[in-house]
Amino acid sequence: MRTQVGIIGAGPAGLLLAHLLRLEGIDSAVLETRGRAEIEATIRAGALEQGTVDLLDAAGVGERMRREGMPHEGIVLRFGGRSHRIPLAELTGGRSIMIYAQHEVIRDLVNARLLAGGAIHFGVRDVSLLDLDTRQPKLRFHDADGELQELACDYVAGCDGFHGVSRPSIPSRLRREFTRVYPFGWLGILVEAPPATDELIYAYHERGFALVSTRSPQIQRLYLQCNPNDEPGAWADARVWEELHARLAGADGFRLAEGRIFQKGVIAMRSFVVEPMQHGRLFLAGDAAHIVPPTGAKGLNLAVADVRVLARALAEFYASGNAQLLERYSETALRRVWRAEHFSWWMTSMLHTFHDESPFHHRMQLAQLRYVTESRAAATMLAENYVGLPFEEA
Ligand code: APR
Ligand code: PHB
Repeated sequence: MRTQVGIIGAGPAGLLLAHLLRLEGIDSAVLETRGRAEIEATIRAGALEQGTVDLLDAAGVGERMRREGMPHEGIVLRFGGRSHRIPLAELTGGRSIMIYAQHEVIRDLVNARLLAGGAIHFGVRDVSLLDLDTRQPKLRFHDADGELQELACDYVAGCDGFHGVSRPSIPSRLRREFTRVYPFGWLGILVEAPPATDELIYAYHERGFALVSTRSPQIQRLYLQCNPNDEPGAWADARVWEELHARLAGADGFRLAEGRIFQKGVIAMRSFVVEPMQHGRLFLAGDAAHIVPPTGAKGLNLAVADVRVLARALAEFYASGNAQLLERYSETALRRVWRAEHFSWWMTSMLHTFHDESPFHHRMQLAQLRYVTESRAAATMLAENYVGLPFEEA
Protein backbone atom coordinates (compact mmCIF):
# COMPACT_ATOMS: atom_id res chain seq x y z
CA MET A 1 0.00 0.00 0.00
CA ARG A 2 1.07 3.57 -0.62
CA THR A 3 -0.21 6.98 0.33
CA GLN A 4 1.15 10.51 0.54
CA VAL A 5 0.58 11.07 4.26
CA GLY A 6 0.22 8.18 6.72
CA ILE A 7 -1.83 9.32 9.72
CA ILE A 8 -1.73 7.39 13.01
CA GLY A 9 -4.82 7.93 15.17
CA ALA A 10 -8.45 8.85 14.37
CA GLY A 11 -8.92 11.42 17.13
CA PRO A 12 -9.74 15.04 16.32
CA ALA A 13 -6.15 15.67 15.20
CA GLY A 14 -5.87 12.73 12.78
CA LEU A 15 -9.36 13.02 11.32
CA LEU A 16 -9.22 16.78 10.79
CA LEU A 17 -5.77 16.51 9.22
CA ALA A 18 -7.05 13.86 6.79
CA HIS A 19 -9.98 16.14 5.91
CA LEU A 20 -7.87 19.30 5.42
CA LEU A 21 -5.41 17.35 3.25
CA ARG A 22 -8.21 16.00 1.08
CA LEU A 23 -9.39 19.58 0.48
CA GLU A 24 -5.89 20.26 -0.86
CA GLY A 25 -6.00 17.15 -3.05
CA ILE A 26 -3.49 15.27 -0.87
CA ASP A 27 -4.04 11.56 -0.28
CA SER A 28 -3.80 10.06 3.19
CA ALA A 29 -4.65 6.89 5.12
CA VAL A 30 -5.70 6.85 8.77
CA LEU A 31 -4.78 3.96 11.10
CA GLU A 32 -6.78 3.58 14.34
CA THR A 33 -6.55 0.87 16.98
CA ARG A 34 -10.13 1.28 18.21
CA GLY A 35 -13.42 0.71 16.39
CA ARG A 36 -15.69 3.35 14.88
CA ALA A 37 -18.43 2.95 17.52
CA GLU A 38 -15.90 3.38 20.30
CA ILE A 39 -14.24 6.56 19.00
CA GLU A 40 -17.68 8.06 18.35
CA ALA A 41 -18.85 7.36 21.91
CA THR A 42 -15.85 8.33 24.05
CA ILE A 43 -16.79 11.25 26.31
CA ARG A 44 -14.24 14.05 26.27
CA ALA A 45 -14.35 17.84 26.52
CA GLY A 46 -16.66 20.11 24.61
CA ALA A 47 -15.64 23.77 24.33
CA LEU A 48 -14.55 24.95 20.87
CA GLU A 49 -12.62 28.19 20.44
CA GLN A 50 -13.78 30.75 17.89
CA GLY A 51 -10.92 29.77 15.57
CA THR A 52 -11.83 26.08 15.80
CA VAL A 53 -15.46 26.87 14.96
CA ASP A 54 -14.41 29.02 11.99
CA LEU A 55 -12.01 26.37 10.72
CA LEU A 56 -14.60 23.57 10.91
CA ASP A 57 -17.05 25.84 9.08
CA ALA A 58 -14.58 26.80 6.37
CA ALA A 59 -13.66 23.13 5.90
CA GLY A 60 -17.32 22.25 5.31
CA VAL A 61 -17.79 20.15 8.46
CA GLY A 62 -19.50 22.74 10.67
CA GLU A 63 -23.11 22.29 9.61
CA ARG A 64 -24.34 20.10 12.50
CA MET A 65 -22.20 22.04 14.98
CA ARG A 66 -23.97 25.25 13.90
CA ARG A 67 -27.34 23.58 14.34
CA GLU A 68 -26.80 21.66 17.58
CA GLY A 69 -23.89 23.45 19.27
CA MET A 70 -24.46 26.17 21.83
CA PRO A 71 -22.60 29.48 21.40
CA HIS A 72 -21.54 31.07 24.70
CA GLU A 73 -20.54 34.73 24.92
CA GLY A 74 -19.38 34.68 28.52
CA ILE A 75 -18.24 32.48 31.38
CA VAL A 76 -18.69 32.84 35.12
CA LEU A 77 -16.03 32.67 37.81
CA ARG A 78 -17.62 31.89 41.15
CA PHE A 79 -15.90 32.40 44.50
CA GLY A 80 -16.79 33.72 47.94
CA GLY A 81 -20.36 32.59 47.26
CA ARG A 82 -20.83 35.00 44.34
CA SER A 83 -20.76 34.79 40.57
CA HIS A 84 -18.59 37.12 38.49
CA ARG A 85 -19.18 37.16 34.74
CA ILE A 86 -16.35 37.45 32.21
CA PRO A 87 -18.02 38.88 29.08
CA LEU A 88 -15.88 37.05 26.52
CA ALA A 89 -17.42 38.54 23.39
CA GLU A 90 -17.48 42.10 24.69
CA LEU A 91 -13.81 41.90 25.70
CA THR A 92 -12.56 40.31 22.48
CA GLY A 93 -14.32 42.20 19.71
CA GLY A 94 -17.10 39.63 19.40
CA ARG A 95 -15.24 36.34 19.71
CA SER A 96 -16.93 33.55 21.65
CA ILE A 97 -16.88 29.78 22.22
CA MET A 98 -19.16 26.96 21.13
CA ILE A 99 -20.20 24.09 23.38
CA TYR A 100 -20.24 21.01 21.15
CA ALA A 101 -18.96 17.66 22.43
CA GLN A 102 -15.69 16.33 21.06
CA HIS A 103 -17.27 13.00 20.06
CA GLU A 104 -19.78 14.94 17.93
CA VAL A 105 -16.84 16.58 16.13
CA ILE A 106 -15.44 13.08 15.65
CA ARG A 107 -18.74 11.82 14.21
CA ASP A 108 -18.88 14.72 11.74
CA LEU A 109 -15.30 14.14 10.62
CA VAL A 110 -15.69 10.35 10.26
CA ASN A 111 -18.81 10.96 8.18
CA ALA A 112 -17.07 13.48 5.94
CA ARG A 113 -14.15 11.13 5.48
CA LEU A 114 -16.22 8.09 4.59
CA LEU A 115 -18.51 10.10 2.28
CA ALA A 116 -15.44 11.28 0.39
CA GLY A 117 -14.28 7.67 0.02
CA GLY A 118 -11.23 8.18 2.25
CA ALA A 119 -9.61 5.30 4.11
CA ILE A 120 -9.85 4.83 7.86
CA HIS A 121 -8.40 1.50 8.97
CA PHE A 122 -10.15 0.74 12.26
CA GLY A 123 -9.09 -2.01 14.64
CA VAL A 124 -5.43 -2.10 13.58
CA ARG A 125 -2.75 -3.57 15.91
CA ASP A 126 0.99 -3.20 16.51
CA VAL A 127 1.60 -0.07 14.43
CA SER A 128 5.34 0.57 14.02
CA LEU A 129 7.08 3.48 12.32
CA LEU A 130 10.03 2.65 10.08
CA ASP A 131 12.64 4.62 8.10
CA LEU A 132 11.55 8.00 9.48
CA ASP A 133 14.84 9.59 8.49
CA THR A 134 14.59 8.49 4.86
CA ARG A 135 12.48 9.92 2.02
CA GLN A 136 10.10 7.00 2.22
CA PRO A 137 8.97 6.23 5.77
CA LYS A 138 6.72 3.20 6.32
CA LEU A 139 4.01 2.17 8.71
CA ARG A 140 3.78 -1.54 9.48
CA PHE A 141 0.68 -2.91 11.24
CA HIS A 142 -1.76 -5.78 11.53
CA ASP A 143 -5.11 -4.91 10.01
CA ALA A 144 -8.47 -5.81 11.59
CA ASP A 145 -8.24 -9.28 9.97
CA GLY A 146 -4.82 -9.86 11.51
CA GLU A 147 -2.98 -9.51 8.17
CA LEU A 148 0.42 -7.84 8.27
CA GLN A 149 0.36 -4.67 6.14
CA GLU A 150 2.96 -2.13 5.11
CA LEU A 151 2.03 1.40 4.12
CA ALA A 152 4.70 3.43 2.31
CA CYS A 153 4.32 7.22 2.73
CA ASP A 154 6.03 10.51 1.97
CA TYR A 155 5.27 11.78 5.48
CA VAL A 156 3.89 10.41 8.73
CA ALA A 157 1.58 12.34 11.07
CA GLY A 158 1.64 11.04 14.64
CA CYS A 159 -1.87 11.90 15.89
CA ASP A 160 -2.16 8.94 18.26
CA GLY A 161 -2.67 10.75 21.55
CA PHE A 162 -0.62 10.75 24.73
CA HIS A 163 -0.22 6.95 24.93
CA GLY A 164 0.50 6.37 21.25
CA VAL A 165 3.56 4.93 19.49
CA SER A 166 4.62 8.00 17.51
CA ARG A 167 6.32 10.08 20.18
CA PRO A 168 8.40 7.13 21.51
CA SER A 169 9.55 6.54 17.90
CA ILE A 170 11.66 9.69 18.17
CA PRO A 171 14.99 8.58 19.69
CA SER A 172 15.00 9.70 23.34
CA ARG A 173 18.29 11.57 22.93
CA LEU A 174 16.64 13.78 20.29
CA ARG A 175 13.59 14.81 22.30
CA ARG A 176 13.06 16.77 25.46
CA GLU A 177 9.93 16.33 27.57
CA PHE A 178 8.45 18.82 30.01
CA THR A 179 5.93 17.52 32.56
CA ARG A 180 3.91 18.72 35.50
CA VAL A 181 1.50 16.38 37.26
CA TYR A 182 -1.15 18.00 39.46
CA PRO A 183 -2.09 16.54 42.85
CA PHE A 184 -5.77 16.30 41.88
CA GLY A 185 -8.07 15.03 39.16
CA TRP A 186 -11.61 15.77 37.97
CA LEU A 187 -14.63 13.58 38.45
CA GLY A 188 -16.74 14.22 35.34
CA ILE A 189 -20.42 13.30 35.21
CA LEU A 190 -23.25 13.48 32.71
CA VAL A 191 -26.68 14.21 34.16
CA GLU A 192 -30.22 14.20 32.81
CA ALA A 193 -31.36 17.64 33.95
CA PRO A 194 -32.19 21.06 32.56
CA PRO A 195 -29.39 23.66 32.64
CA ALA A 196 -29.00 25.51 35.93
CA THR A 197 -27.15 28.37 34.25
CA ASP A 198 -26.84 29.99 30.81
CA GLU A 199 -23.05 30.07 30.95
CA LEU A 200 -20.26 27.81 32.20
CA ILE A 201 -19.44 28.28 35.88
CA TYR A 202 -15.86 27.79 37.08
CA ALA A 203 -16.12 27.65 40.89
CA TYR A 204 -13.29 28.07 43.36
CA HIS A 205 -14.09 26.70 46.83
CA GLU A 206 -12.06 25.50 49.81
CA ARG A 207 -13.59 22.03 49.36
CA GLY A 208 -12.28 21.99 45.81
CA PHE A 209 -12.98 23.23 42.29
CA ALA A 210 -16.28 22.59 40.49
CA LEU A 211 -17.30 23.25 36.88
CA VAL A 212 -20.82 23.46 35.52
CA SER A 213 -20.99 22.86 31.77
CA THR A 214 -23.70 21.61 29.47
CA ARG A 215 -24.30 19.33 26.51
CA SER A 216 -27.92 20.04 25.57
CA PRO A 217 -31.13 21.45 27.07
CA GLN A 218 -31.65 17.97 28.60
CA ILE A 219 -28.09 16.91 29.51
CA GLN A 220 -25.60 18.67 31.76
CA ARG A 221 -21.86 18.07 32.12
CA LEU A 222 -20.47 18.66 35.61
CA TYR A 223 -17.00 18.27 37.07
CA LEU A 224 -15.60 18.14 40.62
CA GLN A 225 -12.00 18.32 41.77
CA CYS A 226 -11.17 14.94 43.33
CA ASN A 227 -8.24 12.77 44.30
CA PRO A 228 -6.50 11.71 41.06
CA ASN A 229 -6.52 8.08 42.21
CA ASP A 230 -10.23 7.96 43.06
CA GLU A 231 -12.28 5.25 41.37
CA PRO A 232 -15.53 6.70 39.96
CA GLY A 233 -17.27 4.05 42.11
CA ALA A 234 -16.04 5.84 45.24
CA TRP A 235 -18.35 8.70 44.28
CA ALA A 236 -21.87 7.60 45.14
CA ASP A 237 -24.50 9.89 43.62
CA ALA A 238 -25.43 11.37 47.01
CA ARG A 239 -21.80 12.32 47.64
CA VAL A 240 -21.49 13.94 44.20
CA TRP A 241 -24.57 16.12 44.80
CA GLU A 242 -23.49 17.03 48.32
CA GLU A 243 -20.10 18.25 47.06
CA LEU A 244 -21.53 20.07 44.06
CA HIS A 245 -24.11 21.89 46.18
CA ALA A 246 -21.51 22.82 48.80
CA ARG A 247 -18.95 24.09 46.29
CA LEU A 248 -21.50 26.13 44.34
CA ALA A 249 -23.44 27.48 47.35
CA GLY A 250 -23.76 31.21 47.90
CA ALA A 251 -25.77 34.04 49.32
CA ASP A 252 -27.48 34.45 45.93
CA GLY A 253 -29.26 31.14 46.45
CA PHE A 254 -27.87 29.54 43.28
CA ARG A 255 -28.81 25.87 43.15
CA LEU A 256 -27.99 23.19 40.66
CA ALA A 257 -30.83 21.08 39.28
CA GLU A 258 -30.29 17.42 40.22
CA GLY A 259 -31.08 14.57 37.86
CA ARG A 260 -30.13 11.02 36.95
CA ILE A 261 -26.36 10.61 36.68
CA PHE A 262 -25.69 8.24 33.76
CA GLN A 263 -21.94 8.54 33.27
CA LYS A 264 -19.01 9.01 35.68
CA GLY A 265 -15.28 9.10 35.03
CA VAL A 266 -12.09 10.38 36.65
CA ILE A 267 -9.65 12.46 34.61
CA ALA A 268 -6.01 12.88 35.69
CA MET A 269 -4.52 16.34 35.31
CA ARG A 270 -1.15 16.99 33.77
CA SER A 271 0.77 19.47 31.68
CA PHE A 272 3.16 17.95 29.14
CA VAL A 273 5.12 19.11 26.07
CA VAL A 274 7.64 17.32 23.88
CA GLU A 275 10.21 19.30 21.89
CA PRO A 276 10.66 19.20 18.99
CA MET A 277 7.31 18.06 17.53
CA GLN A 278 9.01 16.55 14.49
CA HIS A 279 11.74 14.10 13.62
CA GLY A 280 12.79 13.32 10.06
CA ARG A 281 9.53 12.77 8.17
CA LEU A 282 7.41 12.31 11.32
CA PHE A 283 5.26 15.20 12.60
CA LEU A 284 3.44 14.99 15.94
CA ALA A 285 0.10 16.73 16.45
CA GLY A 286 -2.39 17.01 19.31
CA ASP A 287 -2.12 14.97 22.51
CA ALA A 288 0.78 12.96 21.04
CA ALA A 289 2.89 16.09 21.52
CA HIS A 290 1.27 17.92 24.42
CA ILE A 291 -1.28 17.64 27.21
CA VAL A 292 -2.98 20.48 29.08
CA PRO A 293 -5.15 20.21 32.19
CA PRO A 294 -8.76 20.74 31.04
CA THR A 295 -9.34 23.93 33.05
CA GLY A 296 -8.67 26.21 30.09
CA ALA A 297 -10.59 24.02 27.61
CA LYS A 298 -7.60 23.99 25.28
CA GLY A 299 -6.83 20.30 24.51
CA LEU A 300 -9.00 19.81 21.46
CA ASN A 301 -8.37 23.35 20.23
CA LEU A 302 -4.61 22.92 20.32
CA ALA A 303 -4.92 19.70 18.32
CA VAL A 304 -6.90 21.66 15.72
CA ALA A 305 -4.32 24.46 15.64
CA ASP A 306 -1.48 21.95 15.13
CA VAL A 307 -3.10 20.22 12.18
CA ARG A 308 -3.98 23.53 10.60
CA VAL A 309 -0.29 24.45 10.57
CA LEU A 310 0.70 20.96 9.39
CA ALA A 311 -1.91 20.82 6.61
CA ARG A 312 -0.79 24.21 5.27
CA ALA A 313 2.85 23.14 5.35
CA LEU A 314 2.11 19.89 3.52
CA ALA A 315 -0.06 21.75 0.99
CA GLU A 316 2.80 24.16 0.32
CA PHE A 317 5.20 21.26 -0.17
CA TYR A 318 2.96 19.34 -2.57
CA ALA A 319 2.07 22.48 -4.52
CA SER A 320 5.57 23.89 -4.96
CA GLY A 321 8.13 21.41 -3.62
CA ASN A 322 9.04 24.00 -0.99
CA ALA A 323 9.56 22.28 2.40
CA GLN A 324 10.33 25.43 4.40
CA LEU A 325 7.00 25.50 6.24
CA LEU A 326 7.39 21.80 7.06
CA GLU A 327 10.85 22.42 8.43
CA ARG A 328 9.44 25.15 10.67
CA TYR A 329 6.39 23.11 11.77
CA SER A 330 7.59 22.38 15.30
CA GLU A 331 8.77 25.94 15.93
CA THR A 332 5.48 27.40 14.66
CA ALA A 333 3.23 24.96 16.53
CA LEU A 334 5.17 25.23 19.79
CA ARG A 335 4.60 28.98 20.08
CA ARG A 336 0.86 28.43 20.42
CA VAL A 337 1.37 25.26 22.47
CA TRP A 338 3.38 27.07 25.16
CA ARG A 339 0.88 29.96 25.29
CA ALA A 340 -1.93 27.44 25.88
CA GLU A 341 0.22 25.53 28.38
CA HIS A 342 0.70 28.71 30.36
CA PHE A 343 -2.96 29.67 30.23
CA SER A 344 -4.13 26.18 31.25
CA TRP A 345 -1.61 26.02 34.11
CA TRP A 346 -2.63 29.50 35.24
CA MET A 347 -6.38 28.75 35.23
CA THR A 348 -5.72 25.45 37.01
CA SER A 349 -3.52 27.10 39.65
CA MET A 350 -6.02 29.90 40.27
CA LEU A 351 -9.09 27.68 40.60
CA HIS A 352 -8.08 24.49 42.45
CA THR A 353 -7.56 23.80 46.12
CA PHE A 354 -4.00 22.67 46.77
CA HIS A 355 -4.43 20.76 50.01
CA ASP A 356 -0.76 20.95 50.97
CA GLU A 357 -0.52 24.71 50.40
CA SER A 358 -0.65 27.30 53.19
CA PRO A 359 -3.47 29.76 53.95
CA PHE A 360 -1.21 32.35 52.28
CA HIS A 361 -1.61 30.52 48.98
CA HIS A 362 -5.40 30.52 49.38
CA ARG A 363 -5.33 34.33 49.88
CA MET A 364 -3.16 34.67 46.75
CA GLN A 365 -5.76 32.77 44.73
CA LEU A 366 -8.57 34.97 46.01
CA ALA A 367 -6.57 38.11 45.24
CA GLN A 368 -5.99 36.84 41.69
CA LEU A 369 -9.67 35.96 41.23
CA ARG A 370 -10.77 39.38 42.44
CA TYR A 371 -8.32 41.12 40.13
CA VAL A 372 -9.30 39.07 37.10
CA THR A 373 -12.99 39.83 37.66
CA GLU A 374 -12.63 43.50 38.62
CA SER A 375 -9.96 44.76 36.21
CA ARG A 376 -10.97 45.05 32.57
CA ALA A 377 -7.34 44.55 31.54
CA ALA A 378 -7.01 41.33 33.56
CA ALA A 379 -10.41 40.03 32.41
CA THR A 380 -9.39 40.73 28.80
CA MET A 381 -6.25 38.66 29.31
CA LEU A 382 -8.38 35.72 30.42
CA ALA A 383 -10.99 36.26 27.70
CA GLU A 384 -8.62 36.48 24.74
CA ASN A 385 -6.86 33.30 25.77
CA TYR A 386 -10.12 31.49 26.51
CA VAL A 387 -11.73 32.23 23.14
CA GLY A 388 -8.36 31.50 21.53
CA LEU A 389 -5.75 33.92 20.24
CA PRO A 390 -5.85 34.42 16.47
CA PHE A 391 -3.90 31.84 14.49
CA GLU A 392 -0.46 33.16 13.65
CA GLU A 393 1.30 32.50 10.41
CA ALA A 394 4.59 30.62 10.19
N1 APR B 1 -2.08 3.14 16.63
C1 APR B 1 -3.19 3.72 16.07
N2 APR B 1 -4.01 4.53 16.74
C2 APR B 1 -3.73 4.80 18.02
C3 APR B 1 -2.59 4.27 18.66
C4 APR B 1 -1.74 3.41 17.91
N3 APR B 1 -0.66 2.86 18.44
N4 APR B 1 -2.55 4.72 19.92
C5 APR B 1 -3.62 5.51 20.07
N5 APR B 1 -4.34 5.57 18.93
C6 APR B 1 -5.58 6.32 18.68
C7 APR B 1 -6.52 6.38 19.87
O1 APR B 1 -7.35 5.24 19.94
C8 APR B 1 -7.32 7.66 19.59
O2 APR B 1 -8.49 7.41 18.86
O3 APR B 1 -5.25 7.66 18.43
C9 APR B 1 -6.37 8.50 18.74
C10 APR B 1 -5.85 9.73 19.49
O4 APR B 1 -6.92 10.61 19.72
P1 APR B 1 -6.97 11.61 20.97
O5 APR B 1 -6.41 10.94 22.17
O6 APR B 1 -8.35 12.13 21.03
O7 APR B 1 -5.93 12.76 20.59
P2 APR B 1 -6.00 14.00 19.60
O8 APR B 1 -6.59 13.64 18.28
O9 APR B 1 -4.66 14.61 19.66
O10 APR B 1 -7.09 14.96 20.26
C11 APR B 1 -6.79 15.96 21.16
O11 APR B 1 -8.07 17.08 22.87
O12 APR B 1 -9.84 17.31 24.32
C12 APR B 1 -8.53 16.90 24.20
O13 APR B 1 -7.35 15.10 25.17
C13 APR B 1 -8.48 15.46 24.46
O14 APR B 1 -8.68 13.71 22.91
C14 APR B 1 -8.48 14.98 23.02
C15 APR B 1 -7.45 15.86 22.48
C1 PHB C 1 -16.79 20.47 29.00
O1 PHB C 1 -17.91 20.94 28.69
O2 PHB C 1 -16.58 19.24 28.94
C2 PHB C 1 -15.72 21.38 29.43
C3 PHB C 1 -15.90 22.75 29.36
C4 PHB C 1 -14.90 23.59 29.79
C5 PHB C 1 -13.72 23.07 30.30
C6 PHB C 1 -13.53 21.70 30.35
C7 PHB C 1 -14.53 20.85 29.91
O3 PHB C 1 -12.75 23.91 30.74
